[in-house]
Amino acid sequence: MIDLHFNFAFQLDLIQQTVRRWVISNLKPLSGDYIFTGLQGNREVVLKASPDIQALNQEARALKAFAGFGVVEVLAQEGGVLLLERVMPGGSLKSYFPVKDQEAVQIACEVIRKLHHAPLPARDEFPHIKNWLLLLDRVWNIPESYINKARALRDKLLATSAPEVLLHGDLHHENILSRGSDFAVIDPKGVIGERAYEVGAFIRNPIPQLLDDPDADNIIKTRIRDFASNLDLDANRIADWCFVQAVLAWAWALEDGLNTVYYKPLAELLYNLVL
Ligand SMILES: Nc1ncnc2c1ncn2[C@@H]1O[C@H](COP(=O)(O)OP(=O)(O)O)[C@@H](O)[C@H]1O
Ligand SMILES: [Mg+2]
Repeated sequence: MIDLHFNFAFQLDLIQQTVRRWVISNLKPLSGDYIFTGLQGNREVVLKASPDIQALNQEARALKAFAGFGVVEVLAQEGGVLLLERVMPGGSLKSYFPVKDQEAVQIACEVIRKLHHAPLPARDEFPHIKNWLLLLDRVWNIPESYINKARALRDKLLATSAPEVLLHGDLHHENILSRGSDFAVIDPKGVIGERAYEVGAFIRNPIPQLLDDPDADNIIKTRIRDFASNLDLDANRIADWCFVQAVLAWAWALEDGLNTVYYKPLAELLYNLVL
């Protein structure tokens, strides 16, 4: 078991060391416990640390594999700490919900098209979505009708997969930031699978706000239609992936001991699309 207090102190020490070595000034908290803004010379930077060093290394690998295809620039990396270009002004697509939702979908399509042109890395550099989806075979406190449906759809989708690309793997609103007149992508997981998988994260977010919206069902249907036509994908495959990923996200939340209150209504909403 990880000792969180030890880990937090260790992490702060690591951050202080890298701040000194990379000569960063004006360090200020940006998000959570481990993400800061700062200045390197007169360049605006973001410092991202994480107690999960493996996940952060994987993020750095994914950012490098996507370099030149619309992601934020990696300036330096050292065990457990990443130095990134600060995206400016940096507002995320979350502020587009709900009024400018269709515009947000078009922007997401543009960044996805660019990301998916990155060359496919060697097999063992990134996990495959089928490995992530093995989690559905464990026993979870999730209604059986949902878990069974998710397993069956997963098997069907994987057996009939379109050609594979390197996927971002978590491309929701808060990972797409405005950069001048353009948008930059942050926080990729890096996972291999078919293109239709990618749009699921956007379609189910921002989860609390979407679920609160009396028109959620129509918003989701319109998003599926627009992603399908803009990216030349099959709308039914997108809907199937949305449901499977909602159940996967539920299992992840249970595994991590996170709040799962939104996952039942979300799965219910998406279940009706795949019946
Ligand atoms: N390079 C960056 N430039 C500007 N803002 C950033 C940058 N990296 C992260 N942020 C801000 O911090 C938030 C969390 O960062 P993110 O890397 O997505 O961390 P997490 O893994 O916690 O989701 C983002 O949604 C964004 O608002
Ligand atoms: Mg993020």
